[in-house]
Amino acid sequence: MHVIGGTASTALAERISRELGNTPFGIPYTKRFPDGELYVRVGGRLEGDDVVVVQSTRTDQDLLELLLLEDAVREAGARRIFVVVPYFGYARQDRRFFPGEPVSARTMSRHVELDADAVITVDLHSPQTLTHFSKPAFEASGIPAIARLLRERPLDVLVSPDKGGVDRVRRMAQILDKPWFALEKKRIDSEHVELSMPATLPAAIEGKHLALIDDVITTGGTIVEAAKLLTKQGASAISAACTHGLFLRDAFERIKAVTDEIYSTDTLRNPAEKASVAPDIAQILVREARSLA
Ligand code: R5P
Repeated sequence: MHVIGGTASTALAERISRELGNTPFGIPYTKRFPDGELYVRVGGRLEGDDVVVVQSTRTDQDLLELLLLEDAVREAGARRIFVVVPYFGYARQDRRFFPGEPVSARTMSRHVELDADAVITVDLHSPQTLTHFSKPAFEASGIPAIARLLRERPLDVLVSPDKGGVDRVRRMAQILDKPWFALEKKRIDSEHVELSMPATLPAAIEGKHLALIDDVITTGGTIVEAAKLLTKQGASAISAACTHGLFLRDAFERIKAVTDEIYSTDTLRNPAEKASVAPDIAQILVREARSLA
C-alpha cells in the first residue's frame, strides 16, 4: 500500500503511512500554471498497488487538488484507490434548506468518489452524507483520538455546547468515565449564539475542571460563549476540544483568552493539533483493504 499526502494533509498522511507499518509515502509535485491552473504529478511505482490519497477539502483548491490526484494515481496504474478526506468540506449543506439551493454534500460525495474504490472521512457534519456515496464509504470518529489525549488530563466534567453534540459527549464520557451534560444553544446568526445552563446538572461544577467537546470549531463563537458561561458558574478551569479545528480569523486567540487548553485532532492544520486520527483511519484502511480483496 502506498500513501500519497495532498498539500492539505501531508503530515497526517505521513502518520497514516507509519500506522500502516511504514508503507511507502509520497508527496506529489504541485505547481501553478501562469493562468493559475493547478498541476500535480505523483511519483513512485504505483502500478498494480493499492494507493491511499489523503487530502482534506477545506478550500476549493484542496478539492480540486484531490480530484487531480485521484486521476493521476489511476493513470499511474493503481490497482485500487482509497480516498481519505479527513475534513470533508461542504458537508454542512446536507439538504436543500431553500428552493434553488444545491445539496452540496451530495455533489461533493459524487465527485470525490469518481476515481475512488472506497472513501474514508472523519466526523461528518451529518452521517446522512454517507448515503450519498455509491461506493463503499466509511466515517472514522475523532472521539478516540481526543479521548487518548484527555485521559492524561485532570478533568472532572465533560460538556457539550449544544444538544446536537449529546451522542458525542456521552461516548467520550463513557470512555473517560466522567459525568457530562449539554448546554442549551440558540444560534442568532452564523457568528453569534446564546447559551444557557440545563435545568439539572449531573455533578457540581464549582471549582471543577470542565472540558467542552465539539465536532468543529469554526468562528469560535460557540466555545467562547460556553467558556464564559461555565466560568460564571464557578468552573476553575476550562478545556476546549474538537475534531475539526478550522479556527477562522482570530478564533484561536479569542478561545485562548477564555480557556486553559485547546485540543484538536489533525484533520486540519491548526495551532491546537495535539491528537491524531491516524490510528483510527489506518484501522479502517486495513480492514477494508482486506474485505475488498
Ligand atoms: C454546531 O452544530 C457545531 O457542533 C459547532 O458547535 C459549531 O459549528 C461551531 O461553530 P462556531 O465555532 O462558528 O461557533
